[in-house]
Amino acid sequence: MTLGAPAIRARKRRHGDAPLVMVTAYDEPGARYVAAAGIDMILVGDSLANVVLGQENTLHVTIDDMCHHVRAVAAAKPDAHIVADMPWLSYHVDLGDSVRNAAALVRSGANSVKLEGGRVRREVVRALLDAEIPVMGHLGLTPQSVMMFGGFKVQAKTHEAAKLLMEDAQLLQELGVFALVLEGVPSVVGKRVTDALEIPTIGIGAGPDTDGQVLVFHDLLGLGNRAPAKFVRQYADLGSQITAAIGRFAQDVRSGSFPDESEAYANPEGLFD
Ligand code: KIV
Repeated sequence: MTLGAPAIRARKRRHGDAPLVMVTAYDEPGARYVAAAGIDMILVGDSLANVVLGQENTLHVTIDDMCHHVRAVAAAKPDAHIVADMPWLSYHVDLGDSVRNAAALVRSGANSVKLEGGRVRREVVRALLDAEIPVMGHLGLTPQSVMMFGGFKVQAKTHEAAKLLMEDAQLLQELGVFALVLEGVPSVVGKRVTDALEIPTIGIGAGPDTDGQVLVFHDLLGLGNRAPAKFVRQYADLGSQITAAIGRFAQDVRSGSFPDESEAYANPEGLFD
């Protein structure tokens, strides 16, 4: 049964609940495979920019791009909660536009939206919740801040930075987010935040103590175009399997062994008499 935001909000490992599992997907086949594996949540991430569209960072996707891919994921009718990322600039300028953008993701098939940032995003989080749209938070190495961070760098490495992150996490919980992604922070920060919050934390490069884990589909399956980050565990090497399979097809076409009779339609008798 697909979990709603309140059911996810109630999941904490310290209550004896099983860890939450979230995997990204960007299209119908991806969503189908991921859901068949029995995960809890599908994230239509703005990592779309990196892993599907070949861009350097997530600043290159728009709300229209995200809606397009959320529709494709929802078309799989996955038995999993669909979280849609709000892309850069879709919630930074105007509160009314932010609510309309989140609503567009919901109308495309999302069950909730995710946005990056803490105290600076308090008004927009309030506005989305006032519009009855469940919000997942995202703190730490938030990829939409890559230019401000000066690169993809582990965050919360000093006492002061870790304190600010913990305050942001508390604030997001008070505002009413139903779960919090923690990305690219030392394990001890992942643990401290998880221990301090009532809502579940979902880690990616945040150590083993969060209430759940998320990985990007292409990283997990060996479909990426660069060496995976330290926190990735790669469970398959589908990239080389795809290349090998297509290589065999090319060989069969060139040798004339494809298609054979069993792969062609029967000839109606007397067709050219
Ligand atoms: O876009 C994405 O894939 C994400 C995850 C890295 C959490 O936000």
